[in-house]
Amino acid sequence: MDGDTSKVAIVTGASRGIGAAIAKRLAADGFTVVINYAGRAAEAEALVSKIDAAGGKVIAAQADISDPAAVARMFDAAQTAFGGVDVLVNNAGIMKLASIADSDDALFNSQVATNLKGSFNTLREAAKRLRWGGRIVNLSSSVVGLYQPTYAVYAATKAGVEAMTHVLAKELRGRNIAVNAVAPGPTATALFLDGKPQQVIESLAKLAPLERLGQPEDIANAVAFLAGPDGAWINGQVLRVNGGII
Ligand SMILES: NC(=O)c1ccc[n+]([C@@H]2O[C@H](COP(=O)([O-])OP(=O)(O)OC[C@H]3O[C@@H](n4cnc5c(N)ncnc54)[C@H](OP(=O)(O)O)[C@@H]3O)[C@@H](O)[C@H]2O)c1
Repeated sequence: MDGDTSKVAIVTGASRGIGAAIAKRLAADGFTVVINYAGRAAEAEALVSKIDAAGGKVIAAQADISDPAAVARMFDAAQTAFGGVDVLVNNAGIMKLASIADSDDALFNSQVATNLKGSFNTLREAAKRLRWGGRIVNLSSSVVGLYQPTYAVYAATKAGVEAMTHVLAKELRGRNIAVNAVAPGPTATALFLDGKPQQVIESLAKLAPLERLGQPEDIANAVAFLAGPDGAWINGQVLRVNGGII
């Protein structure tokens, strides 16, 4: 483990997938890490044990990010355990696909609640609490740009996340806090793979000129860059991490 564990990073939705890869990578880079999750306590605790065994400083913090009170409690827990928060990685998200004609209110409301309101809840706390020199990395998606059929509501929530990224970067003037977004393309996690026939997965994997799916670690590399010392001069940007799909 390298670096300085005095920097504290909250990673939302880190019980699996891209968030778990980000948490592992930030811990390896020397960050103290708060592993947020909504439901998968056993997976989150297993990741805590793994990072702990590798010499990292880490806790798990359950909070449904769509609940503002739970998000405030998660920041409180981080501050109580480690004295403050420097980095927020807004990774938790859900994806439900249907044409607009076939989208019911539950599909719309759940994605807005987690992806858009959830990101707003964590950004609001971070805007109030992040220490001088902090970083925020939001997870968008390359579907903002691809605009494929069935992605309307999901893409709309991520477009909202990108809009908040640009606005918050300006609102935090004077605190040396950079706010950026990473927008992955198709990445091999349950969110992407579940429910898709193998041939659809293979054709989506071939869309990028690099001709493969992204791996969670590919995305974690980009987040670590933006959260770490080499990302210091990047602010208010959306970095698409997708093998060249768009
Ligand atoms: N995979 C892709 O192809 C892809 C592409 C572009 C963008 N993204 C974005 O990347 C992010 C991570 O996606 P992923 O593929 O890693 O998904 P994933 O494997 O389904 O993992 C999602 C994580 O988010 C957590 N989560 C869900 N709802 C939550 C809530 N209300 N409060 C707190 N945590 C919650 C889950 O925790 P529990 O399971 O413990 O509830 C889980 O740890 C998402 O924002 C997604 O939109 C993914």
